[in-house]
Amino acid sequence: MSDDHYGDAARLEHVRSNWNEFGRRNPISAIDSGLPTQDWDAFFASGERVVSGLLDRVREAGMVPIRGAALDFGCGVGRLTQALAARFERTTGVDVAESMIDRARSFNRFPDRCEYVLNDSPDLSRFGNGSFDFVCSVLVLQHVGPTLAQRYVEELVRVLRPGGVAIFQLPSALLVATSLPNGPDGMPSSYLAEIRLTGPEERQVIQAPDPIALTLTVTNQGSTVWLPGHQIRVGKRWLYADNGRVVEPEDDGTRVALPGAVEAGASVEVVLVAATPSRPGEYLLEVDLVQEGVTWFGDHGSPTLLVECKVVEIEGSALESGGQTAGIVPRMEMDGVPRELVSESVAAAGGVVVAALDDHSAGPEWQSYLYVVKKPRRTSDGRRWRWLRRQPASEKVLAPAMSSAGDAPVLQPPPARNSVRRCLR
Ligand SMILES: C[S@@+](CC[C@H](N)C(=O)[O-])C[C@H]1O[C@@H](n2cnc3c(N)ncnc32)[C@H](O)[C@@H]1O
Repeated sequence: MSDDHYGDAARLEHVRSNWNEFGRRNPISAIDSGLPTQDWDAFFASGERVVSGLLDRVREAGMVPIRGAALDFGCGVGRLTQALAARFERTTGVDVAESMIDRARSFNRFPDRCEYVLNDSPDLSRFGNGSFDFVCSVLVLQHVGPTLAQRYVEELVRVLRPGGVAIFQLPSALLVATSLPNGPDGMPSSYLAEIRLTGPEERQVIQAPDPIALTLTVTNQGSTVWLPGHQIRVGKRWLYADNGRVVEPEDDGTRVALPGAVEAGASVEVVLVAATPSRPGEYLLEVDLVQEGVTWFGDHGSPTLLVECKVVEIEGSALESGGQTAGIVPRMEMDGVPRELVSESVAAAGGVVVAALDDHSAGPEWQSYLYVVKKPRRTSDGRRWRWLRRQPASEKVLAPAMSSAGDAPVLQPPPARNSVRRCLR
């Protein structure tokens, strides 16, 4: 579904319910699928490494963060917030998902100087202009949709104190997959695969909210080799067994890369691990190949694999953070915002992008950046910043000081123009 279908509030509600569900199930693998699912020590140790890397990048960009107030936007369960709290006088972690905030609070080692705040608003209006010396956001803006991402970028800079530093990560574009060539007859026969279940082969019985894990054998039934640059991945969606309707959201964004080039006629083995529907019932898991950003193989007539699954609830296994689930398969949505639009949003709030560093955290199919942003103490033409107030009072804007309050410009957010999204269906 594109941003056009959502207003900001509806879009945010969609994001919130997704991440609430991830937080209830297994936040570690939703945040970093490379980490062991229950190892909280390894999880927080990874936060130390990330924060120390962020501060190194800031220093390499020629700035020294002031160790006053820090903001971690999209803090999840506090992986980075805790590492920041060890370094800053005051740290605030903000997240849209209650389940994440609840867990973050239970892990807080610095209750006297670190707080977690639930913010289900499409802005950061609860914080005044210039509230923080250091702002960071990692693996967050890519999940909110491009319009909200730009808005939050402006907000991250607005809440930054003049003289402060922000560092945030955001993908800009899907790397263009090389087209699959047509077969010898000129027809697009390369989008043809056989997907077989190697194990376990019997009907799957899964205890919600455990993920499902399948071993699959994928055979290239087309006439040309699949190369890594073609970005072919294994994906899936859930269907209700009785009527074949798609469970919404239908695709949790799980993708498994093929282990390398696959010659025509050759087979490879992949393991697919994916979130299951929250509600008990009979389902079909439909597995297909996708060329990232281009097409699903099923749309070209390639047969998909249907696996019968029964989801059962274990007695007393209510999801840890409080029972009722939305009954959805949480969905890992990813969007990018072109770099020039990010720079515009930063500038609109009075910031300057000092560096846009290559970032690999969004996965190999994304061009992604780590933006290092400063908010100069003076405007580009040498004037001091001052805070303007307009109605409603919460909507304060930052503008260069003018001779009289009446003629000061009010800065507007740039319109959303362009975005890129993965090939979800
Ligand atoms: C992949 S996790 C990253 C968590 C944390 N930054 C880390 O690296 O450990 C994404 C987090 O962003 C949060 N999030 C998504 N949309 C948000 C929004 N609009 N406002 C605040 N947090 C949001 C999610 O709830 C989730 O906790």
